[in-house]
Amino acid sequence: MTMIPKTSPGPLTSPGHDRYVDALTPVLTARNVSIEYEVTPPVHAVKNVSLTLHRGEILGLAGESGCGKTTFAYGLNKLLKPPALMRAGEVIFHDESGKDIDVVSLEGDNLRAFRWDKISMVFQGAMNSLNPVISVRSQLFDVLTTHRPNMTKKQKVARSRELLTLVGVDPDRVNSYAHELSGGMRQRVMIAMALALQPQVMIMDEPTTALDVVVQRGILREVMRLREEFNFAVIFITHDLPMLLEISDRIAVMLRGEIVELDTSEAIYTKPQHPYTQKLLASFPSLTGERGDFVRTGDPAEGRG
Ligand SMILES: Nc1ncnc2c1ncn2[C@@H]1O[C@H](COP(=O)(O)OP(=O)(O)O)[C@@H](O)[C@H]1O
Ligand SMILES: [Mg+2]
Repeated sequence: MTMIPKTSPGPLTSPGHDRYVDALTPVLTARNVSIEYEVTPPVHAVKNVSLTLHRGEILGLAGESGCGKTTFAYGLNKLLKPPALMRAGEVIFHDESGKDIDVVSLEGDNLRAFRWDKISMVFQGAMNSLNPVISVRSQLFDVLTTHRPNMTKKQKVARSRELLTLVGVDPDRVNSYAHELSGGMRQRVMIAMALALQPQVMIMDEPTTALDVVVQRGILREVMRLREEFNFAVIFITHDLPMLLEISDRIAVMLRGEIVELDTSEAIYTKPQHPYTQKLLASFPSLTGERGDFVRTGDPAEGRG
């Protein structure tokens, strides 16, 4: 087993986490993925993107608001809906059973059985879409009932409590309603839901963007600990490059629908190749000690990110 060398410079990196990454074993491969929004004029949101995610790896996907991160993530999980259309490309999931699954061709029951079981997702802004008048327990039960119809009620209660404990929420909160929880707790519940079926890949789309720094770091620590415990791979999406430098094994930098650079966090930090990556790094005062001009890439969707 070849390991990706330890990469992240920041204090969040747990010692020896690289031993969880098997650089020779891909779990998800995207090849030449192109996605368009069929509006007038059409928006070519993702352009010929290829990348491989390895078992146990945290792969950061960085780039300005509107560059296509969320659209690409939806493409990986076959979640695109009109007017979005995958024009070209392949997405292959390499199951731990040894079977390869062609994600793009999945339909109906096969697709339902695949999603959440194999790849789960923490959606952008999801913590604000938790139904405020439904208990945490019912929301966790929903996932379990749909995918594990043979579980008894007692097992589901036990599993719900266990999931909350895993993400650092008091299990007695299982009877709370979303409106009774802080933003950080709601996001932890979303992560618990994504963990519920022990997926091999978790896609996290801006999971901490709306939270204050202290809460954010608590959640990131939890994600890293869980990754070590369960060895799932993570695609972590954010515009926050310094955060990715701390938590990711590798980072892909996206610009106007294309991945312009993909390397270990250390290489991105110490010798960024693409001018856009260099500008992104220079624009964070925490990294350079000075405030650089923040780069706008043109045509970002307001309010998205
Ligand atoms: N439903 C839609 N219809 C048309 N264009 C869209 C739609 N959703 C997103 N886009 C466009 O696709 C591009 C990529 O958006 P998105 O994937 O949300 O970027 P990011 O997640 O990086 O902020 C943007 O230019 C955005 O305006
Ligand atoms: Mg987005």
